[in-house]
Amino acid sequence: MTNIKKIAVLTSGGDAPGMNAAIRSVVRTCAYHDVAVLGVYRGYQGMIENDFAPLDARSVRNLVNRGGTFLKSARSKEFRTPEGRKKAYDNLVAAEADALVVIGGDGSFTGALLFNQEFGFPVMGIPGTIDNDIYGTTYTLGYDTALNTVVEAIDKIRDTASSHNRMFFIEVMGRDAGFLALNSGIGGGAEKILIPEQHSTLEDLVNEIAINHNKGKMSNIIVVAEGYTTGQNVYELKKYVEAQNPDYDIRVTVLGHIQRGGAPTCFDRVLASRMGVKAVESLLEGKSNYMVGINNDKIDLTPLEKAIKGGESKLDPDLIRIAKIMSV
Ligand code: F6P
Repeated sequence: MTNIKKIAVLTSGGDAPGMNAAIRSVVRTCAYHDVAVLGVYRGYQGMIENDFAPLDARSVRNLVNRGGTFLKSARSKEFRTPEGRKKAYDNLVAAEADALVVIGGDGSFTGALLFNQEFGFPVMGIPGTIDNDIYGTTYTLGYDTALNTVVEAIDKIRDTASSHNRMFFIEVMGRDAGFLALNSGIGGGAEKILIPEQHSTLEDLVNEIAINHNKGKMSNIIVVAEGYTTGQNVYELKKYVEAQNPDYDIRVTVLGHIQRGGAPTCFDRVLASRMGVKAVESLLEGKSNYMVGINNDKIDLTPLEKAIKGGESKLDPDLIRIAKIMSV
């Protein structure tokens, strides 16, 4: 055990459902081990601007079910500078914090790692992003909730699409990754799923749509990951397909930030609770520079450096094949 008496916690980058549940878990695990907690508002920017408040077990009541993050989140440009990080460090030391838990995505972990390398300050990451694009964990916080939000939206769009024999291009978030699009597409019964991990041409797309049409499919749901690159956005894709087949009646729905909000699913709440406990207890054991993850249903640690530079996508190629089979 270390001499850690106070742990600071912040949320950073795009918010994700389950972040509140993770903060709650960090705070309650600290309370359980008799460690104080410093809540940092607005991510790294709040650290630079001394935007702190003490948190105790009761100050995180009624949060496990709430989307967003009550600590608020930000993408801080100033923290990318050595001067910004120095200010943040001085403020944390003045507030008597001994360690830091960062709940966020890979950009936030890059900041945490730099912070540790420059000042030797113990840091621990909890992956929170709807994109699920972090190496070292099968699931990130918020991904399951966002997935269910997308599937619910696809189901609703399918009702109107089939009533009018229409084709819909549905744009789904995920930054450069296709997890949300691929899994929601399979779960929502999409006829076609376009993801950055799989390259196809516009001609392929038009041909496949024509084949579907000939098979008697009257409506078509095409899920498009926002990171899918043909050089064309979803509206241009629609225009292109329409130009080839003027008979098709096509609409576009960009789901946008609706995917980031809402009450976390039970899966995300439990995951957040497990990850928060592991983050705090690992710091108390003297560990630093790790990200907490879930692999084979076990909570474990991956070095932050590996999580950031993991490189390859962990998208299961078999899922791509399954999507193809399901849309036969
Ligand atoms: O990383 C989460 C995410 O929602 C991505 O899916 C999306 O590309 C991006 O953030 C949107 O960012 P912003 O909220 O800054 O528009």
